[in-house]
Amino acid sequence: MQQETLLTFKTQFEEEVYTGLTAFPKHLSSKYFYDAIGDKLFQDIMQMPEYYLTDAEFEIFETHKQEITDFFSEGEAPFNLIELGAGDGKKTKVLLRQLSEKTKNFTYRPIDISQHVLDGLSVSLQEELPKVSVVPQQGTYFEALERINSENEGRKVILFLGSNIGNLLHKQAIVFLSQVQALMQEGDLFFVGLDLKKNPQTILDAYNDPTGITAAFNKNVLTRINKELGGTFELDDFLHWEVYDPETGTAKSYLVSKKEQTVTINKLDLAIDFKPWETIHTEISQKYDDATVNWLADQSGLQVIKHYTDANKLYANYVFEKKQ
Ligand code: AVJ
Repeated sequence: MQQETLLTFKTQFEEEVYTGLTAFPKHLSSKYFYDAIGDKLFQDIMQMPEYYLTDAEFEIFETHKQEITDFFSEGEAPFNLIELGAGDGKKTKVLLRQLSEKTKNFTYRPIDISQHVLDGLSVSLQEELPKVSVVPQQGTYFEALERINSENEGRKVILFLGSNIGNLLHKQAIVFLSQVQALMQEGDLFFVGLDLKKNPQTILDAYNDPTGITAAFNKNVLTRINKELGGTFELDDFLHWEVYDPETGTAKSYLVSKKEQTVTINKLDLAIDFKPWETIHTEISQKYDDATVNWLADQSGLQVIKHYTDANKLYANYVFEKKQ
């Protein structure tokens, strides 16, 4: 009988790195891109001319802020504006400014796993929009949403911006959307940013910048393994590679081993062999069309009541409500 080793992991990071790098084909989750360095690299990505997503969502908010915020406030009743994954709030501030000019009757509740991100956002909002009532919630999306639900009666408008949903496979997206749906009441809104299918070259360019910022972002998961788990990844021995399938709308990121090599991870007591050109799949960035969004909504007990796009139809914001 084969001897089984019982493995114990101290963190989810350790467990997922072990599972992902001993699997075939190898994979690592893009959620591990984001530490202080990764957050900064993503800020830089959002400033790149090739990364059209941020500008397109900003344009949608600037163009339609009146109508969008009318939708949100819907009369006089107080409401909670909840943001899942708050970031630096640059785009959200367009809506917050507009809302604060016409109503005081809302509380902005940004949810983020990072207290550091929430602190930065609170400080900048205090300076720029001191009249807005801000109640940050540190934690995972669902912990925080459940807490908000149990402590508040008011209507909810939930924001999930930046095409963050695109990191999920459709199956996972349906699980996620269904979990949000289960916490919604009649009259609540779910406002989601989604990147659209478009010329495949435009998409490849957004994830393949010539300055190498996206490559550094992708490789940051290796840097974290080196630092936090005692790994020996040589970043120059891996290539950032992006593919896009225009049929499915799925962009995928890989790290490709340029040579045969063995990497050790001290804390996991692990040696990982790479064949020349062997891949580690690290991220998906899904692109959508209207039919797919309607299907995802339907599968999740939601319905689309409205959507907005930028002038070039690169990106869209959809408004969902609970299916009647
Ligand atoms: C933050 C998940 C929306 O997939 O476009 C940017 C992350 N990855 N460049 C995306 C990302 C490479 C981004 N999301």
